This record gives sequence, structure tokens and C-alpha cells, in this order.
Amino acid sequence: MAKRNALVIVANRLPVDQITAEDGTQSWQRSPGGLVTALEPVVAKHGGTWVGWAGSTGMAPAPFTLDNLSLHPVPLTAQDITEYYEGFSNGTLWPLYHDAAATPKYHRRWWDRYVEVNHRFAQAAADVAAEGAVVWVQDYQLQLVPAILRKRRPDLRIGFFLHIPFPPVELFSQLPSRTQLLEGLLGADLLGFQHPDGAHNFLRLANYLCGYETDRTGVIVDDRRVRAEAFPISIDFAQIDKLAQDPNVLARAAQIREELGNPRQVILGVDRLDYIKGIEKRLKAFRELLDDGDISVGDTVLVQVATPSRERVEHYQELREEIEREVGRINGEFSELGTPAVHYLRQSYDIAELAALYRAADVMLVTPLRDGMNLVAKEYVSARPDLGGTLVLSEFTGASSELTGAFLVNPYDIDGMKRIIIQALRTDPTEGKARMSAMRERVAHHDVTMWAAEFLTALHEQTRPPEPLPGPLVPLASAQDVWVVCDYDGTLSPFVDDPTRALPAPGAYSALMELASLPHTQVALATGRPAAVVRGLLGLTPDDPVSVLGMHGFEIDASLGEPLSLTDEQQKLREQVRAHTITTLEDLGVPFVQRPLEEKDGAVVYVEDKPNSVAVHVRRLDPAQRENVLMAISNGPALHEGLAVTPGDMVLEMAVTQVSKGDAMNLLRKNAPDAHFLVLGDDVTDIDAFATLQSEDVAVIVDRRLPDMLTAARRGTLRPAVAERLTPLAIAHLSAAVTVPDPAAAVALLKRFASARAQELEK
Ligand code: ADP
Ligand code: G6P
Repeated sequence: MAKRNALVIVANRLPVDQITAEDGTQSWQRSPGGLVTALEPVVAKHGGTWVGWAGSTGMAPAPFTLDNLSLHPVPLTAQDITEYYEGFSNGTLWPLYHDAAATPKYHRRWWDRYVEVNHRFAQAAADVAAEGAVVWVQDYQLQLVPAILRKRRPDLRIGFFLHIPFPPVELFSQLPSRTQLLEGLLGADLLGFQHPDGAHNFLRLANYLCGYETDRTGVIVDDRRVRAEAFPISIDFAQIDKLAQDPNVLARAAQIREELGNPRQVILGVDRLDYIKGIEKRLKAFRELLDDGDISVGDTVLVQVATPSRERVEHYQELREEIEREVGRINGEFSELGTPAVHYLRQSYDIAELAALYRAADVMLVTPLRDGMNLVAKEYVSARPDLGGTLVLSEFTGASSELTGAFLVNPYDIDGMKRIIIQALRTDPTEGKARMSAMRERVAHHDVTMWAAEFLTALHEQTRPPEPLPGPLVPLASAQDVWVVCDYDGTLSPFVDDPTRALPAPGAYSALMELASLPHTQVALATGRPAAVVRGLLGLTPDDPVSVLGMHGFEIDASLGEPLSLTDEQQKLREQVRAHTITTLEDLGVPFVQRPLEEKDGAVVYVEDKPNSVAVHVRRLDPAQRENVLMAISNGPALHEGLAVTPGDMVLEMAVTQVSKGDAMNLLRKNAPDAHFLVLGDDVTDIDAFATLQSEDVAVIVDRRLPDMLTAARRGTLRPAVAERLTPLAIAHLSAAVTVPDPAAAVALLKRFASARAQELEK
């Protein structure tokens, strides 16, 4: 019996293909494509078994280990390859899922074989998965595996990730086997897509074609909830970044430019030879630029690297011919002796050679007609620690949502693409660096390790047996009307040094959405920040049914009441306080910024200018300096008459209005006098909200700050500004509150409450 593992990856291909040379000797070669690029480092890090096809026909090699990867080959016959791989996977699904970039073909026997091979992969996964293991199924070739596997092994936690786009209803509905495919996917606990559009399309289809109840992030299938969300994939940024600084790679990059005849500018394309990559459109634009005289041979050269792919599929054969004809035509028309206009390399290179090519290229052309993500674009920016080079990127790639420093193009618009290529070639170096730096930052912070961790954490969370709901929340689950009111910083989002990066704890958005989609259940956020900022951090759209009360209730959602505004006097006072704060900091000699903090800022104070207040953030300072600054502000600008001064966690806020989260709560109660309230908070300003609670309401305290304050209050060691807020009612509610250790636990509690309430409401 095969060794059983706690993590099993199931993909059509193993990360390596078995190659048989003419003399019969066999060797292993890395498999092509983005799936392998992304997943290989994940399995190398976590350990686990990879189940997949070894790339040759007939008998599969015995399970084996290679570079720490435990590999479990699945056999495919020649007929499987024709009908399952080249047929249904790459002749039907691949074009259909890519906006029907080529005409999808439908053959019943292709589908029958797809079903059969999916059973084989599912059985292989069932054989190697340990009890309760995580099985992570990959991509469009194996969409039936989750349901087959669930039937055979209900103990498993099953995740599925689609590396390519998931099409809209109009296209997907063409498939004769459409409901079987959806039911196959719904066997998973968690479905990951490259882009929120894919998740959205899937959820619409599950409802429209299968009749399942869906909400924004999931589908209810019998007694299970299947979660469907976007998890944009990435690459090993650090590996490529490091490689691109290796002296050998740099020397090779210089050599490449020399071999190209030292042109002034090098344009590069690197793709699998696939019709979705838009290679022919890019060649057309390049030819016309030469023809128009906008660029000239010798001065500007195009290098197009294209790995052979799926060569027995008709569309791919046609594409290859078309591209080779076009390259021949360009070179025939424009090349000079010894100076070709296009260098066309139909080969596969190792990552070091690709890194050298990336470093040698001034402009990278990534122009797919549709692509789930496109890792080449991410590799290019990772390979530019020098901040050189510009990226021209199709707006129809998943990467375009993240790489906002790229020059975006519509590959169908040849004139537009020509204009953008010229713009990219002529980019001012300072602008180019800023663009590259923004893109690198994104990929560095969202690398493949983070992608895998987010997916696997979500899968664990999704499959964890539910803990019982804490006692005080039980009656609220069945109450007639409920308002859930949450603070943001420290409650739904862990504190970070830079407030502009205070991202929500994973699942916060979906927890709020789950609650808000229940009947008789309303959700509000009561925050000290401007509402728009918290909306942005959480990714709330104006259509999401969540109210946000900003600046402690100064900013009110239109649905809840009349907006508040400052009097002339209050505006003047705010100006005075701001000016006084700045002179105080200047006198102290403490550096400060008046715009949102950036990573490069060192130990500075952030003076935040809010519509009704001035907030002084001291989190970046060392502890001794923090106290000094807070003391000087408290004894200076904070003493202006008419201010409401609130000390928060490493911030002091001086508001010219007296609005508090207590007012925000009263406003909500006015709108729903019979509702019961569940209020979550962690900090001083939340005390005002807790103080308005009534006996059926419940307070949830996140973290230790408020409990520690209660202790300090009992000892009489609390600062007066805080002690004043601790009215007997606030103390009573805080003492009876449910406590959770951190924002992640707060999110988990909200989810538990949402599912308990959903069950109660169904009764
Ligand atoms: P896809 O998954 O459709 O192939 P991606 O751009 O997401 O497209 O991923 C392609 C992967 O294959 C990248 O890691 C890229 O480096 C690699 N690749 C593409 N062309 C070549 C080539 N000629 N030689 C070696 N690797 C290549
Ligand atoms: C894309 C697909 C992968 C596939 C790869 C290479 O990245 O999403 O599933 O493995 O292309 O294609 P191939 O058909 O050679 O496996």
C-alpha cells in the first residue's frame, strides 16, 4: 500500500515529465506551465504527495521521491490522452473557459473519457490520503474529482483551485455536461478562483443551473456550505529576485544583449505557444510599428520565446503555423544581414536563463486575449530589483488587477497596443522606476507562500468542527431582530505599524456578509476612521448591505439619518488644533508626516487630519518617545476648549465635535427600537458604545486592553480621560462581556453566530 500523507496535491501533471530519449534512456524534466511554477515551492515547503500524470503513455512509473517531493504517478493511455487531455480538457474546456478564444468542440466520447479519468485520479488520491488529510485538487482537467473523492472518503478536507478563468453563465451554459461539472466541483469544501469574477460566475451558475441557495461567498449543498472565493495565485518572488541579482545571471543578461547586436532597446515575450497568449496580435503590432517607421531594426529588437505546448491539438498546430509565418514575414521584410527584426525561440529554458532574459529586456510584452493570472508578468517584475524595464500587460489577465504599474492594453486593439508599446519604450526612467517599484511591492507581499497559506487556512477554517456558541450569545441567535455592530481596528483587523495597511483578519468580509444576508439581521461598523477608508480596507462595495458609521458616528449612512457637519467655529478650532499640534512637534524636534504613512517612513509621528478631528499616531516611535509626545500633545493642543480628547492605542484624538460611538449606537437603536445588539470592540472609544447596551444585548471584547483597564480602574490607576468613560453601566457590561483573544477569533465568533442564527431562523 502507498505511503499515506496529510497533504495531497492532485493535478493533471506531476511537476516533472518523464522523457525517453531515442536510445531509450529515461530522464525527468520540469513540466510546463504556471500551475507547476506556483505549486512546486508549496509542496517543497509543506511536504506532501503530488498525484499526477508523468507525461508519457502506458504504464505509470512506480511512486518515487524527487528533490523531497513525493510523487505518485497516474497512468494515461494513448486514448486517454486523445480524448481526456487533448479532447475534453484542451479542445472543449480550455477554449470555452478563455472567452471561446478558439471554437470549443463537443464530443460525447471525450466527455465519457473525462469522467473515467477523473475517477482514476480520485481513486489515486483516496489511496494516498491519510485519515482526515487535506486534498487539494488543481485545475480544469479534474473538476469531477472533488465529488467523487467526497463519496469515497468523506473524512477528507477537499480544496479545489482553478488556475484559469471561470466563464460567465452565457458561455458555460453551452456545455452539454454543465450540471455534472458544477456538481463535481461542489464536492469540495473550498473552491478557489483567480479573480472575484470567477467566483461570482460560479456562484451564479450553482444557483441558476443547479438551483442551490447561494450567498456572496458560498453555496448551500444539503447540510454543507461550500465556500467559493478568489485567491489570486503568485510566484516565489524571493527566489527570482535573488536569482536576478546573481552575478552569473547579470553576466548572461549582458551577453544576451551583446548577442542581439547591442540594440538600444530589447522587447521580450515569453509564453507557452498558446492561442490565448495573443502572440500573433503582438507580432502584428510590432510589424506595423516597423512599417510605420516608429521603430527601426537594429535599434529595437523583439525576442519571442515560446515553449511548445499541446502540439497534437489542431488549434495549437494552426497557431504555430500562423506565428511562424508571421515571424518569417517580418524578418523577410525588415531584417538586415546579421540583424533579424524578431528572434523567435521555440524552446523551453531554465529559470536562470529566463531571469537573464527578463533582466535584458527593456519592455516585456504580456498580451493574452484572456489569462487566469499570467505568472510571466509577475516573474518579470520579480526579476527587476534594479527597477528597470517596463511591463505592457493585457487588461484581460488576472495579473492586471494587481500589477497596476503596468501599461495596460487591449490586445484586440492593434492601434492602441502600438501606441502603448511606444509609450513603454519611451518611458521616463523616474516614472518607470515608480511603476516597477509599486508592482514589485505587490508581488513581494503576495507571493506564492502567502497564496497557499491563505487557501489552506481558509480550508482548515471551513472544515473545522464548529465550537459551541458562548452562552450569552445563544438567546441572541434566536432573537426577532438583531444588530451586529463592530469596531474595525483591533477588533476585525490586527494592529499594524502602518494604519493604511490595517487589513482585515482573513474571512472578516465574508463573516459580515454572511450575517448581513440573514433575515432580520443588520450589520454596522462603528469606527473612528473615515467610513470610506474602512470600506476600502474591508473591500465593501456600496451595494453591500453593511452600514458604516465613520469618525465615531460623525459620519452617518444616508439610510440611517441626516448627515452632520461642522459649524464655522468648530472648523476654526480644528485648524487651530492642527497648527498647534505641528508647532508642538516641531518644538519637540520629533519628525512627523501629514499624509498616510508609507513603509519607507522611519520613526515618525503621523498627524491625521480627519473632517472633525486631528489624530496623532505615535506607533512608529520608540516607547519613551511615545510617552513624551503624548504628554506634550495632551498638555498643549489637547487643552483647547471644546475638544473631546480620546486616548486610543498609541493614538490621541482631538475631536471638535462631541460625537461618540455611544451616539452612533443610539442612532441605530432609534432606527430599530426592538432590536437586540451584539457589539464587538477592543478600545477606549468602544466603551461609549458598551455603555448604551441594555440587558438583552451582548458585548464582545477583543484582546486584553479593556479587561486590563477594568483592573486598573479598580486599582484607581487609570488615566482620567479613560476613567470618566467607565460609567457603572459600562463597567457592568464590560464585566459580563464575552472575551476573545484577537481579531481572528472575533471573526470566527461572528461566523459561528451567523450559522447558529441561520439555523434558528430556519426552525
Ligand atoms: P500558463 O500557465 O498559461 O503557461 P503563466 O504565465 O501563468 O502561463 O505561466 C507560465 C510559466 O511557464 C511561467 O513560470 C514561465 O516562466 C514558464 N515558461 C513560459 N515560457 C517558458 C519557456 N520558453 N521556457 C521555460 N519556461 C517558460
Ligand atoms: C496552464 C494550465 C495548467 C497546465 C499548464 C501547462 O498553466 O492551467 O493546468 O498544466 O498550462 O499545460 P499542459 O497542457 O502542458 O499541462
